[in-house]
Amino acid sequence: MINSRERQIATSVLVIGTGGSGLRAAIELAERGVDVLLVGKRPKADAHTTLAAGGVNAALSTMDAEDSWQQHAADTITESYLLARPDTVQTVTENAARGIADLERWGMPFARESDGRISQRFFGAHTYRRTAFAGDYTGLEIQRTLVNRAVQLGVPIIDSCYVTRILVRDNVVFGAYGFDLEDGGRYVFRADAVFLAAGGHTRIWRRTSSRRDENTGDSFRLAVLVGGRIRDPELVQFHPSGLIEPENAAGTLVSEAARGEGGMLRNALGERFMKRYDPARMELSTRDRVALAAYTEIKEGRGTANGGVWLDVSHLPRETIMRRLPRVYQTLLELQMLDITRDPIEIAPTAHYSMGGVWVRSEDHGTGVEGLYAIGEASSGLHGANRLGGNSLIELLVYGRIVGEAAARYSVELSAQRRSEGALADARAEVDGLVTADGPENVRALQRALRNTMTEHAGVVRDEGGIRAGLSELDEVEDRMKNIGVHPDAAGFQDLAHAFDLKASAIAARATLEAALERRETRGCHNRSDYPELDPTLRVNFVWSGPGRIEREEIPEVPAEIARLMRDVSTDGKLVE
Ligand code: FUM
Repeated sequence: MINSRERQIATSVLVIGTGGSGLRAAIELAERGVDVLLVGKRPKADAHTTLAAGGVNAALSTMDAEDSWQQHAADTITESYLLARPDTVQTVTENAARGIADLERWGMPFARESDGRISQRFFGAHTYRRTAFAGDYTGLEIQRTLVNRAVQLGVPIIDSCYVTRILVRDNVVFGAYGFDLEDGGRYVFRADAVFLAAGGHTRIWRRTSSRRDENTGDSFRLAVLVGGRIRDPELVQFHPSGLIEPENAAGTLVSEAARGEGGMLRNALGERFMKRYDPARMELSTRDRVALAAYTEIKEGRGTANGGVWLDVSHLPRETIMRRLPRVYQTLLELQMLDITRDPIEIAPTAHYSMGGVWVRSEDHGTGVEGLYAIGEASSGLHGANRLGGNSLIELLVYGRIVGEAAARYSVELSAQRRSEGALADARAEVDGLVTADGPENVRALQRALRNTMTEHAGVVRDEGGIRAGLSELDEVEDRMKNIGVHPDAAGFQDLAHAFDLKASAIAARATLEAALERRETRGCHNRSDYPELDPTLRVNFVWSGPGRIEREEIPEVPAEIARLMRDVSTDGKLVE
């Protein structure tokens, strides 16, 4: 079943990804009068951003007058274990209030105090309350607000389009190629500039807070195929609270808001185990430390029968739960028929966020391939080895605007563009080849094998033997990928999409394993049981540009006005196992 009809579409800027970062960038472009087209593989009302739960950070000082963007920056760099790029951090924190004001102007229903101030809650390891929110549906409300604004501006959106290739000639972008998920027809997009806003790679683990076709590493693949690079792919945030059951929803997020509102963690013996790992901050410690603590409790036999620990909010007033944690309440009822106002929630760490991503310049998120930009979770630079909850939503608002502005300038100033028939022919041939592939290997089974490999060998705690075993299992998966069968049917071309997802996941897995092997230290989310100490000489970003190719990138000094507000990065209680 092949549909090789090609639709030719021209636009000034093509944005790949219908989530928050892509939408925010598209709004900026449209407001500046630049033609923009948004395309993506998920329905715009249900892009991954809708799953972001607990909040968005800005030092608005609505609750704690002492807060400042400098303190927000200091917290972000401290908790990144010094791997965040200071210029990126400064850009995000200094512009955060403006990001919130934009949303307010477009009708975002933030939670407010009785006098009208935007409420702000504590999230782990923030010095002050600076996480603005809308219950625990913050991402959903942001997505709705941005979609409404984009629709008002007349931004066209095709949200049933899978982009398979960026089109480049002599390191300059001229468009992209893809196919329609419903009818399999092809798209040839001609554009001055292209945005990668297609998320990260956390779906390459088995237990993850992403859904089955999200965050499969698409941005990594699209970038690397045209000469882009990946910064710190090994730095993946495992969120402490993912559901364990039911199996088909394993990893579903229980928002950090549950701990922010006063939730307590206990092991199977009833002990509040964070006392052992971070007695000062307890449940409000950083995600890397809470995730490692939970992992250690489970590994050392103090976990529940299902291999988890307990997160309990049942002591909170029912009204607090219903107003501030409504999604957690609904999710547990729906998936487990569990009433969290009465019973604790069984949780375990879940792959949640790609803190690394496509290499970008901090000033405009250009990738080094002219006209190609990356934003949101697809990009890198802000989070280092541990992301503060709430920082990803503010990043997409701030950089969506800034990169939209940069691309508008680039497009307007571009005097001529050369295209390559060869690049287009390659892209076409790749889809032709896959859509007719009729081998015995099943794509979904290979996806499962790859996820098992990453779960087994590149989870919360890693070591050299495991990572090397992971690399040889990945070799086997890649061998089997040469013989896949792809079977689109009357229901659509999802099977072809899964095959491309698998290709992307294999690239993302290789980048992750190779960089994890190279980072011979324990830092933030990256726990090497064979190198349990932080190595100060590895205060560098790793830049992966293809199998076997990793370079080190120096990190600039932290500006004095931020540095003076930073605490020491203590690693006490890190690798307790
Ligand atoms: O736990 C959460 O609500 C997640 C927030 C985030 O990842 O920023």
